Amino acid sequence: IGSSRFKDKRVLITSGPTQEAIDPVRFISNHSSGKMGYAIAKAFRNAGANVQVVSGPVNIEKPQGVEVFKVKSAQEMFAQTKELFGAAEIIVYVAAVADYTPEKVSDKKLKKSDDDLAISLKRTPDIAGTLGKLKNRDQIAVGFALETDNARENALRKLEKKNLDMIVLNSLQDSGAGFRYDTNKITVVHRNGEVIEHSLKTKDEVAVDILAEIEKILKK
Ligand code: C5P
Repeated sequence: IGSSRFKDKRVLITSGPTQEAIDPVRFISNHSSGKMGYAIAKAFRNAGANVQVVSGPVNIEKPQGVEVFKVKSAQEMFAQTKELFGAAEIIVYVAAVADYTPEKVSDKKLKKSDDDLAISLKRTPDIAGTLGKLKNRDQIAVGFALETDNARENALRKLEKKNLDMIVLNSLQDSGAGFRYDTNKITVVHRNGEVIEHSLKTKDEVAVDILAEIEKILKK
């Protein structure tokens, strides 16, 4: 990419899934692999940026030359991201944060019985949404969204609600795109309503496209 616009820029990325404990041996999570977050981290590193990643539990190797903060739960991801937020100039929220977490975490392994079991869940903090309220005019925030219907409309609403400058729409419709795959197909929605569709590419290539879209915002 050779872009010097990102040279020494402070970039903060949330990445991966979160794990919400039920008891010492069980948790609620999702299929996020963390590949897209790390691909974006590498693209920024290659462009000369100073990159910090707050990552949930992932099984892939962490990129070189990037500072990674490991967390487990949505609450931990929120606390760590909040701590790093003030110094960041570009924030990219790639993490698939659990929306709900068990109301109580049992300190002993839950015993099974012949009865069915219900677990009460409470909402987790919306990291992008909460930090969006603290965002200053010089900070650029980018979110991701995975929508199955009314994708663009919902993306624009989400963008306003979370005070984002740009949202990256992931498609679940296209084969080979999204969770676990090494490829992704994105549509970028800018705050001014501009919509750009990209074709199916590797996550590393998609990351470079995302940087190019962010660069457009920097130029304004
Ligand atoms: O509202 P929704 O989950 O669809 O929004 C997705 C975007 O918000 C992603 O950028 C995701 O990383 C971020 N998010 C977050 N904290 C949450 C939920 C989503 O930062 N609790």
